Amino acid sequence: MEVVILPGSKQIGALAADAIEALLRRKPDAVLGLATGSSPLPVYDELARRHEQAGLDFSRAQGFALDEYVGLEHGHPQSYREVIRREFTDRVNIAPENVHSPDGSAADIPSACQAYEDAITAAGGVDLQLLGVGTDGHIGFNEPGSSLASRTRIKSLIEQTRRDNARFFKNIHDVPHHVITQGLGTIMEARHVVLIATGAQKAQAVRDLVEGPVAAICAASVLQMHPHVTVLVDEAAASSLRLADYYRHTYDNKPAWQGL
Ligand code: F6R
Repeated sequence: MEVVILPGSKQIGALAADAIEALLRRKPDAVLGLATGSSPLPVYDELARRHEQAGLDFSRAQGFALDEYVGLEHGHPQSYREVIRREFTDRVNIAPENVHSPDGSAADIPSACQAYEDAITAAGGVDLQLLGVGTDGHIGFNEPGSSLASRTRIKSLIEQTRRDNARFFKNIHDVPHHVITQGLGTIMEARHVVLIATGAQKAQAVRDLVEGPVAAICAASVLQMHPHVTVLVDEAAASSLRLADYYRHTYDNKPAWQGL
């Protein structure tokens, strides 16, 4: 696991965009794993800028969302399908039919979850998965206690997550209780995972996921078992890391050929 401590969101957005740009140049039909929430927004802004100003090409790329609320009506502005369209895919030249998200309004949720797993497999798997992390250590919506081997399925949100996400809705009562999320086992199959965390409210989750025990109480800690994870954090999110100086030193002296 590589930890890169950066001054702020702009630098984090640029570095993550560098990794995605390098991937697309190497593999124009790359499969991108897309997170919602606030953390990836600087990355989407930077990718949209590079598309507009430098012609970064997404025409052959595919995207798979991490998760979706259950029960929001089709086209609801806070459904993750809509958020990803608005914040990212409408701003680049990715084909709309190549952007996938779990079907949160399916009558048969288990079948919809299996279909989503099958679609990821049929696309060849995720090349680069963007992630944020919840204050309780969730990735996707794999709340504490999630099986470390879990696949795409329905989950109940913890009240803290509903409170954290209430800022996107009129009030907390509008935040759904259920979601469909890629499982931890699903996320672990992505070839490269780039996790972004900013702000002091993420400091404990970042410490637990990077330096704590691998345990379902912090679902993101499973990433310690992944061979290629990059954690991009600002100073505030890094403030509880015991080995922060080592991470800084390592990154400052990293061989240029290594990339992320
Ligand atoms: C979003 C997702 C969540 C968020 C997490 C952090 O698709 O899966 O795990 O990444 O809740 O959200 P923000 O970035 O808004 O703090």
